[in-house]
Amino acid sequence: MTNLEKLKLLKLLYQHKSMGFEYFSDLKSIYHKRDLALPGSMDELKTIVTACHMCSLSKTRKNVVFGDGNINADLMFVGEGPGANEDESGHVFVGRAGELLSKIIENVFNLRRDDVYIANIVKCRPPLNRVPNMDEVSACKDFILQQIRIVNPKVLVALGSTAFHHLTGDYETKISRVRGEVLKFGGIDLVPTFHPSFLLRNPSSKKEVFQDMLTVKRLLAL
Ligand code: URA
Repeated sequence: MTNLEKLKLLKLLYQHKSMGFEYFSDLKSIYHKRDLALPGSMDELKTIVTACHMCSLSKTRKNVVFGDGNINADLMFVGEGPGANEDESGHVFVGRAGELLSKIIENVFNLRRDDVYIANIVKCRPPLNRVPNMDEVSACKDFILQQIRIVNPKVLVALGSTAFHHLTGDYETKISRVRGEVLKFGGIDLVPTFHPSFLLRNPSSKKEVFQDMLTVKRLLAL
């Protein structure tokens, strides 16, 4: 059974539970392999994601952090996963790393944060801000892929190694080797760069990110 099928089945079981059902002798009677595609509407997708319990991160989260911004944006950023501030507020990149990302968006592209779309590989905070593990990413990955399909940006920026590895399936190449290159994600240009949290710890790498953002600006013809 695929993750999406499991998610749909889990959703059906929750619906039945809310109606008072406690036990099914024959799951097939409630589970039909129909309508298995995730919705093409961002609001409907958000409703599904907000009710997700497909991995253990759902047990410790305060809020699901779905993603924010312009769903018709030409530019989309993908981060790793929510931290404490995001978990508290339900919004992406609102902590110190978020402030830095906002500055980059405003100063380099002359855009507002609301003009771009921002989301993460996983939607729930990993405890102690650890890197999400493979099980957590595979439970969540269909959601970011569907968000990318809906926004269909011209340029996708992978912020940091977690986003780069899971978006490309390349788990070998180091972000420091590939940053600033223009890769392809289907028909979309994908530019990996350092994560804003890394920049907070290593401010001297800001100049490389600035170069990468100039590449993105050129791709967007801004
Ligand atoms: N780091 C991320 O990768 N995403 C956030 O939303 C915040 C910090």
